[in-house]
Amino acid sequence: MSIINVNLGVKSYQIEIAAGLLDKAGAKIRSVSKAQRAAIISDSNVDALYGEHLQKSLEQKSLEGSGFTVTRIVFPAGEKSKCLTELAKIYDRLAAAGITRSDLVVALGGGVTGDLGGFAAATFLRGVDYVQVPTSLLAQIDSSVGGKVAVDLPAGKNLVGNFYQPKLVLIDTELLRTLPVRFLHDGLAEAIKYGCIRDKSLFEKIAAMRDDKELLANIGGIVERCCAIKAEIVEHDEFDTGERMVLNFGHTIGHAVEKCCGYTDYTHGEGVGIGMALLTRQTEKLGLTAPGTADAICQVLQKYNLPVDAPYAEADLLAGIGMDKKKSGSSITLIILKEIGSSFLQKTDWQALPDYVKRS
Ligand code: GLY
Repeated sequence: MSIINVNLGVKSYQIEIAAGLLDKAGAKIRSVSKAQRAAIISDSNVDALYGEHLQKSLEQKSLEGSGFTVTRIVFPAGEKSKCLTELAKIYDRLAAAGITRSDLVVALGGGVTGDLGGFAAATFLRGVDYVQVPTSLLAQIDSSVGGKVAVDLPAGKNLVGNFYQPKLVLIDTELLRTLPVRFLHDGLAEAIKYGCIRDKSLFEKIAAMRDDKELLANIGGIVERCCAIKAEIVEHDEFDTGERMVLNFGHTIGHAVEKCCGYTDYTHGEGVGIGMALLTRQTEKLGLTAPGTADAICQVLQKYNLPVDAPYAEADLLAGIGMDKKKSGSSITLIILKEIGSSFLQKTDWQALPDYVKRS
């Protein structure tokens, strides 16, 4: 078991990481909550796999206190559910279950669930405590930590949201064994990103794995390292006004790729991988990044069947970037590598952006 503290004053919390943690979830969650009722929010896929398991654990009495009265709220799996319509249904279910301000929401699932369930918790009754139990690699190493919660609008992803820290993040790495391989690799793209921006040895460790079997055997250490990097960054910049933006390496072009395909052909991690590769090719040419960096990124992405380019014209990618949250006024903040393991923020004029998105 490994514990990482996220030190944010009165909003501090722990990330607990271990294989088999779901069995102990009830007692762990009781230790941070006096709630009488708990609402588990999850999608249809995750609820079928783990909903009952978590419900039983939460209902059980433990040394830490009595069991919770549990309601399970299930929404259809997929990014399309991260919307205001599904959110309204969740509010109705929370109200029908009699959830009060002293009760608890538990978000059990991947990034969509953490964002949607977390945003429901942040806003229902002006804020109810919540716990993240992430089940995908992407959620375990990124979206469950740091309190970013949101829903999408037709105009773009995460356009309605908040910063609302959980009371606890429980990461059971055993749950990754049921994750389809494409989504294991999807999350791995974010782990590669952590290596790129902050930790060359993490990058090299991922690059040196022989196959998915070896990857899964070592996944606990990778999750731990990524969460530790994220916790440190969030502690320095909770509200994403500076240092935290480095976590968006690859995301500016990545979000545009996701938008161009209507959030269907490419997953978030695949988009991020393409974004890291395309941007770094150009920053190398512009003399901002050490030669060979883009090749190193492409090699490790391709090893895990992650794409390094997408069939969208430069103009379409630029249009997709138009609604990027990081764009402010006439400039956009790009996250650029000096080399693997070292990154910096660069405010870039909107007019200069094509230089960073083109392919030649
Ligand atoms: N996923 C990026 C962040 O939490 O800031």
